[in-house]
Amino acid sequence: MNLTRSTELLHRNQEVIPGGLASINRKADPCIAFARAQGSRMWDVDGKEYIDYHAGFAPYILGHNDPDQNKAVIDAINQGRSNYGSGPTVDEGELARLFLACVPTAQKVQFVNTGSEATAQAIRVARAWTGADHILRMQGGYNGNHNMVAANVMSTKAQLGGRQIIGDEYPLAPITAGIPAAERALMHSVEFNDLEAVDAIARRYKLAALITEPVLQNVGVIKPKPGYLEGLRRLADQHGFLLILDEVKTGFRSGVGGYHCLRGVEPDLSTFGKAIANGFPIAALAGKAKFMDLAISDQPDKRVLIAGTYNCHPVPVAAAIACLRKLMDPKLDVYGTLERLSARLEEGVTRLMTDHGVTSTFVRQGSAHCAYFMPAAPTNWWELLSGHDFALDHRYRRALIARGIYQFPIAAKQGSISFAHTQQDIDETIEANDSALREILTSPVKVGV
Ligand SMILES: Cc1ncc(COP(=O)(O)O)c(C=O)c1O
Repeated sequence: MNLTRSTELLHRNQEVIPGGLASINRKADPCIAFARAQGSRMWDVDGKEYIDYHAGFAPYILGHNDPDQNKAVIDAINQGRSNYGSGPTVDEGELARLFLACVPTAQKVQFVNTGSEATAQAIRVARAWTGADHILRMQGGYNGNHNMVAANVMSTKAQLGGRQIIGDEYPLAPITAGIPAAERALMHSVEFNDLEAVDAIARRYKLAALITEPVLQNVGVIKPKPGYLEGLRRLADQHGFLLILDEVKTGFRSGVGGYHCLRGVEPDLSTFGKAIANGFPIAALAGKAKFMDLAISDQPDKRVLIAGTYNCHPVPVAAAIACLRKLMDPKLDVYGTLERLSARLEEGVTRLMTDHGVTSTFVRQGSAHCAYFMPAAPTNWWELLSGHDFALDHRYRRALIARGIYQFPIAAKQGSISFAHTQQDIDETIEANDSALREILTSPVKVGV
C-alpha cells in the first residue's frame, strides 16, 4: 500500500494538532488521508480509489456529495440564508415537521449540532424531570464524548475485573481522563440484553435515565433479544426513570425514523444525528412534549437550557431537509434498495467465509453490518470480547483496504452501505473478500486482542 503522502500529511499535522487529526477516533492503522469522495467512492491523497463502507462513521446514507443535497445547500447560501442568531426561521420549522412525521413516538424536537450534544441534553432533561442524578448505560455502547457517558465502550477484560457480570454493574472504565469523581459515581454500565441488571441497578440507585443504543452499533452490530427493549420500557415505568433511546447511529439507517419505530417501542426521549443529514453536522433530541417542554418551563428550577450559537445553522438544516425528503420518497425506495444491496453483500461474504473454512458470523441490521470472526452473533460485549478473533479481523480489514475496499481498520467496527452503492460495487467487494481471505489464511496468524 502506498501511504507516502498520507504519512507525510499526518506528520505535518502532528506539529500543530495533537495526534495530527481533529478527532482521535479517526486514527487507525493504516492511517489514510483522504482527498475526495463521491457517491460510494473515496480517493486518498496518494491517488488510490476505494469503495467506502466506513461512511464517515455511518452518516452517509445517500453517499458522499449527494447532488440533490449539495444543490439544496448551495441554494440556501445563494438565497442569502444566514445564521441570524435571532428569532425563528422558516427552515427550522420545516425540518422539525419533516422529522416528526418520520418519528411518531416524538411530539417535539430540538436540533443541536452533534450527537454528543443531543445525548447530553437528553440526560439533562431526564435529570430535571426526575430530580434524580444516576445514569445507566450499556457496556459496549457509545453515547458521546461528554462526562455523563464517556465510559465502558470497548473495555478490556482487565478493566472489567476479569469476568462477565450478569445481573449487576461492571466496574467503571472511563474512556477519558478528567471526569470528576462526583460525576463518575453517577455513571453505571451493565451488559446489553440483561434486564435483571437494569432492575438491580434501578433498585440500588435513584436513576434519572437509562440511555442505550437500541442496537449496539459501535461494536459491530449487537441486536436486542426479543422482548429486551420492551422490558426496558417496562422497567422505566416501574422505577420512574426515563428511557432514552440513542438513535444517533441507528436512526434512519434501517428505515425512516428510529429503529424503535420499526420495533414499536416507545422511548421517553430519543436522540438522532448522522444519517438525518447525510454527513452534515446536525443532531436532534426528540420526545414527548411534557419532557421537551422543560426547555420553556415557567418554573425556573425545572427549566432546561437548550441553546447554541449554531443550533439550526442554515447549511446543515438545508442538508437535513434535502436528506429526509429523499429518504421519505417512496419513488426512490431508498430502504428497499439498501436492503437488496446489503442482503447481496451478506450472502456473498457468508458464502466465501464458509468456502474458505473461516469461523464467522455476518450480522446485519438493514445496511449496517459487521463480519465477526466467531461462531454465533454476540448478544453482549463480553461475548464479543471473548469470542471474536480481533487480530484476524484487523488483518482482514487491512487486506480489504489494500484491495480498495475501505472498512475502518479497527476490529469489530460496523460497516455501512449507502444508496449510492451499486450492485457492481457489492460484487467487486465480494471478489475482493475472496482474495483478502485467501491472503490472511495463508500468512501466519497472530493470536490475541
Ligand atoms: C450512538 C451514538 N451516540 C452518540 C454519538 C456521538 O455523536 P457525535 O460524534 O456526533 O458527537 C455517537 C457517535 O458515534 C453514536 O454512535
